[in-house]
Amino acid sequence: RFEGITMAPPDPILGVSEAFKADTDEKKLNLGVGAYRTEELQPYVLKVVKKAENLMLERGENKEYLPIEGLAAFNKATAELLFGAENPVIKQQRVATVQGLSGTGSLRLAAALIERYFPGAKVLISSPTWGNHKNIFNDARVQWSEYRYYDPKTVGLDFDGMIADIKAAPEGSFILLHGCAHNPTGIDPTPEQWEKIADVIQEKNHIPFFDVAYQGFASGSLDADAASVRLLSARGMELLVAQSYSKNLGLYAERIGAINVVCSSADAATRVKSQLKRLARPMYSNPPVHGAKIVANIVGDPALFNEWKAEMEMMAGRIKNVRQKLYDSLSAKDKSGKDWSFILKQIGMFSFTGLSKTQSENMTKKWHVHITKDGRISVARLSSAKCEYLADAILDSYHN
Ligand code: LMR
Repeated sequence: RFEGITMAPPDPILGVSEAFKADTDEKKLNLGVGAYRTEELQPYVLKVVKKAENLMLERGENKEYLPIEGLAAFNKATAELLFGAENPVIKQQRVATVQGLSGTGSLRLAAALIERYFPGAKVLISSPTWGNHKNIFNDARVQWSEYRYYDPKTVGLDFDGMIADIKAAPEGSFILLHGCAHNPTGIDPTPEQWEKIADVIQEKNHIPFFDVAYQGFASGSLDADAASVRLLSARGMELLVAQSYSKNLGLYAERIGAINVVCSSADAATRVKSQLKRLARPMYSNPPVHGAKIVANIVGDPALFNEWKAEMEMMAGRIKNVRQKLYDSLSAKDKSGKDWSFILKQIGMFSFTGLSKTQSENMTKKWHVHITKDGRISVARLSSAKCEYLADAILDSYHN
């Protein structure tokens, strides 16, 4: 009975927010979850989102069920944003797009598809990766193993290791790739490296499986952040792409995203879509409407679309400024001669500091700076004013 159920461990990422809430120290700082805050450390609802919501209220839109696959206008907009409206995969109707419960729900749906139609297939994930990837595949009963990615010696990409591991994987494996702004490392392959990754994937008949959680949010440009996906799709490969609008539109709690399956024919895409619907129906029936309408309204209106791009650039710019400030503070204070420039090279919401588990615990216990135990800092939640304090905490944790 229920008496026999043991306590589950706290979630490595969302558990940090719980620990932060319980911390009573005034100096406390929550740099755990990847959710953007302003310079005043307040949550930020994009102005363009408020405008879209006002429009929706004025129109008095109803709350009828969406179809299982989600809002048609959203599905069209999201696939076009990802691949580009003129992409042959769009023109030839080779993409099966289904609205998902943001990135996680979309990944979970894809995992269910793999479990059902590719029995025994393996998913290769980067080491390290986002804390939830392993849970998603475990719960979907999909086997996974890791490929080398992060090299602690260079605080950069272990490109040779990555290529060797993708090559060594059983033919026809799914290769999970972060489309841009790798979480947690902030280290991405260069365009030349992406070409080589595409080469080995093709050589081994693997299927690329992209997780795109930051389109437009990493660099400030929607097109630049989709370059890796477009590069691989241009080779005519079948592939999977999960998308999220949590970060780039700040729609965290709306749970809005999509799963896109690029197939080799329009006919196959229709069949795949029918199976995705069949998997979704018993899981959650059909997806929520509010976030889907926000995205569709913004993307469908040129003026709102431009406002969104400007706000995304603003958020990406603020993160870059704080990164610079943190680097400056660390370099000025650290007398050991350590090179902190990796912080400037990393992109996206996070900085992977190289702090060990014990050092990360020191950050929390002594300095009340709450970060994940893998040494990841959510720079998107940091303000310029807190950089000096954070630098003191990092240096103390690093050197003592
Ligand atoms: C993160 O990595 O912090 C975010 O993607 C939030 C989450 O759901 O874990």
